[in-house]
Amino acid sequence: MPADVRLDLNSPDFVRDPYPELARAREATPAFWQQDRLFLTRYDDIARVLKDSRSFGRALSPLSRDELPVSELRVSELQDPRRAAFDAFNTNHMLDSEPPKHTRLRSLVGLAFTPRRVEGLRGRIEEMVQGVAAGLDGRGTFDLVRDYAEPLPVTVIAQLLGVPQEKRHNLRPWSAAIVRLYEVGPPDEVIAAAEQAVLDFSALLRRLLAERRKHPQDDLITALSQVQAEGERLSESELIDTCILLLNAGHEASVNGLSAGVLNLCRSGQWDEVARAARQNAPETFFRTLGEELLRFDTPLPLFERLVLQDAVVAGVPVRRGQKVALLYASGNRDPRKFEAPTELRLARDPNPHLTFGLGLHYCLGAPLARLELGISLRALSLAFPRLEVQDFAYSGGFVIRGLERLTVRAG
Ligand code: HEM
Repeated sequence: MPADVRLDLNSPDFVRDPYPELARAREATPAFWQQDRLFLTRYDDIARVLKDSRSFGRALSPLSRDELPVSELRVSELQDPRRAAFDAFNTNHMLDSEPPKHTRLRSLVGLAFTPRRVEGLRGRIEEMVQGVAAGLDGRGTFDLVRDYAEPLPVTVIAQLLGVPQEKRHNLRPWSAAIVRLYEVGPPDEVIAAAEQAVLDFSALLRRLLAERRKHPQDDLITALSQVQAEGERLSESELIDTCILLLNAGHEASVNGLSAGVLNLCRSGQWDEVARAARQNAPETFFRTLGEELLRFDTPLPLFERLVLQDAVVAGVPVRRGQKVALLYASGNRDPRKFEAPTELRLARDPNPHLTFGLGLHYCLGAPLARLELGISLRALSLAFPRLEVQDFAYSGGFVIRGLERLTVRAG
């Protein structure tokens, strides 16, 4: 294994465009150690880890804390009273659970968050997107992140959950505060803001839940409170923490996927072609396929980790129980061993087995909703603005939740 491979994950240059560095790392080696984690760079190795849930898990629970390496950040974090609510939230939702708890949570939530419920949102999403696009019409220059990509997923998830209109303005700031704590080594004010956001959001959901128990509505909070399978139900805290997870997971990546997607289409000179397809009433599959390629080409959540649950060998490297493996989804998605011409954004790439929604046990539960939103948004935006010129853009914060904070475009 070459000793000199290192990624400077926090450098602004890397966050802005990680792909040349990732390509260098991937061609130099399938795996390298950095900060006590074994980083994997190639598609097949990442996929193998994701599919092997006996050897690799997301949660800390199957391990005794004593077995974790001394540098394991979360050992001290888990005992930190400043973030007690945040940590309780993370132990209660499916993303950080393992079987059998994960199986129970995911199947109960799946009974409420059904494909039918998602498909039922289509008309509402189309209406919302057209409304947002129409509101921008006539404004020569606008910020595509703030004015277009952000409002939609937040409104959709709020609508889905059943958060009333007058409370929705809090959702985006709460979610932003919570996800900031997933970056490595957060400062005190980030910890305090995330903790407060979890407390405030939980309080709102607890109130809504009490109301829905008295007066059921056609929304996910009501449905989650009613689901039952084989005598199992969601406890109140599981239900509340599931709703917080759905809010966070359900819009951060969608905002980033859409705005980066538009940026990449403009920069590769293909926006006009998409707009032409929209004008010619291209079938839904055109926009679905396009959405998949945008999510492969520029991966909104580029890095996830797994804990080694039992000793194993990955990419030829032995790993011990308690160690961490860092999976560079963004690198796997550009691996030439898996994708032909991976640095090209090909509108009609098919098949497209990208890693953007993960694989295996924790495969994104919201993928059908994310795909629906992205396809509808791309069609509506390209119809409303057949010519778009990028004037300026900037990425925010970190690599783990990588996204544009600003994308200024001029409509021609
Ligand atoms: C472009 C948008 C999205 C991307 C890129 C994305 C990506 C992901 C990824 C990679 C995972 C697995 C994490 C891992 O491998 O450790 C995941 C899990 C999850 N996602 Fe998404 N997601 C998106 C949108 C959504 C939406 C819209 C929702 C819900 C409304 C959602 C809900 C979830 C949930 C609940 C999980 C946990 C599944 C489990 O642990 O079994 N996601 N997502």
